[in-house]
Amino acid sequence: MSDTPVQAAPAATQGSPPQVRKLHEISNGLATLVSLSKRRGLVFQSSEIYGGLGSCWDYGPLGSQMKLNVKAAWWKAMTRRPNMCGIDAAILMHPMVWKASGHVDGFSDPLVDCKDCKTRFRSDNTDSYLLHKKCPNCGSLNLSEPRNFNLMFKTHMGPLEDAGSTVYLRPETAQGHFVNFQNCQVTTRYKIPFGIAAIGKSFRNEITPGNFIFRTREFEQMEMQYFVKPGTDEQAFGMWKEVRWEFYQKYGIRKENLRFQPHGPTELAHYAKAAVDVQYLFPMGWSELEGIHNRSDFDLTQHSKFSGKTLEYFDEQSKEKFVPFVIETAVGCDRLFLAFLCDAYREEVTRDAAGGEDVRVVLGLHPEIAPVKIAVLPLSKKVELSSVAEKLRDQLAQDFETLYDESGSIGKRYRRQDEVGTPFCATVDFETLNDQAVTVRHRDTMKQERVPIASLNEYVLKGMRNF
Ligand code: GAP
Repeated sequence: MSDTPVQAAPAATQGSPPQVRKLHEISNGLATLVSLSKRRGLVFQSSEIYGGLGSCWDYGPLGSQMKLNVKAAWWKAMTRRPNMCGIDAAILMHPMVWKASGHVDGFSDPLVDCKDCKTRFRSDNTDSYLLHKKCPNCGSLNLSEPRNFNLMFKTHMGPLEDAGSTVYLRPETAQGHFVNFQNCQVTTRYKIPFGIAAIGKSFRNEITPGNFIFRTREFEQMEMQYFVKPGTDEQAFGMWKEVRWEFYQKYGIRKENLRFQPHGPTELAHYAKAAVDVQYLFPMGWSELEGIHNRSDFDLTQHSKFSGKTLEYFDEQSKEKFVPFVIETAVGCDRLFLAFLCDAYREEVTRDAAGGEDVRVVLGLHPEIAPVKIAVLPLSKKVELSSVAEKLRDQLAQDFETLYDESGSIGKRYRRQDEVGTPFCATVDFETLNDQAVTVRHRDTMKQERVPIASLNEYVLKGMRNF
């Protein structure tokens, strides 16, 4: 397939269509993404030069931008709805918050120690233990009894490390919404139903983290609490299921890789009246991407009890006072980042005349999620071209994340952009000096068009909107 820039517009690509391999059709899908992420500056192992720190990851030059885009997409989808607001609560909260929420007493996993190989594992989801009471690592039967291990990270506030100074790194952002329920309601003057959205770091001392950024001990959550009148909670729960499904469709997650998985009565969290997981088909199988919960009035009632402050809402119309019910949507930003990578990854395989394989790796990310929107590629390093290309980069950078690349053949430069999902490349060539236009090449179709520099920003904006 021809993929060199043309100077006349428009020109289509030639040859037979490529064979497409999706990530799920590749045997080592997750390893492929880990390797791409490192090679292209999306995600690095944390503290790599010291041998790395288990389950901790750093987002690199392109990954940090993509993560910001994921958060911006979620934030926009939430806070631009009517009766919605945002907050940014502190990670450290009063320790009583976690007593009231049930985390101090109940946020734990059952842990078993193998006395022979010293492996520690969760007893509630480890097959060899559940079926045969054996260590999953060495098969030994010489095991401790399961004991509850609290997943919250503890630290100390102030200079004294005593019991009175213990504080926790929050294990979820949601409690920040509950303790600010009245502050938000009074300052926004919203009437119920209304919602509070927040994005922030959470910490859990997971016993079995893993699968790249799927389960880590430090992660970012995007959570929303919707406060409703009791009795309207079931309808609101259904509404949020639809809203969240549409969000995933809008950003291009394939329907066949997404499903709802309701919780049975024995699976419900202590605070939940009803719950459903939005599951995604990750390379390791169907797993939770987002949780949608009907939390009833559990949290506000608990905080009212523990703080001594009433958290009732007065409905002016009906003159009733009540503790609102809460519908929660909670998704991990890192997990969604991974789902976007999994869904977007494809290998397009074409064969040359001799039967050899040519593989084009493409991240077909939605342009809003892609870390770079347009790359500027001068055809040569000659100053006549680079001076125009640099000016063009500055023009585009006013509106978009833009990348400048002048090294290597143009074909290689296109491929580098395909691999990180850049939807457009603008090639500055010698004809540009005469016609003040550039060749724009599209990531997905590889089609090329000649576009005047003066209208290029508008062209990209339109292309992103119509994706
Ligand atoms: N406030 C409710 C709550 O936190 P959760 O199901 O425990 O519910 C919500 O967490 C979401 O946070 C999950 O669906 C997942 O996307 C993300 N998440 C939870 N634990 C995580 C971890 N250890 N690493 C990465 N993401 C995690």
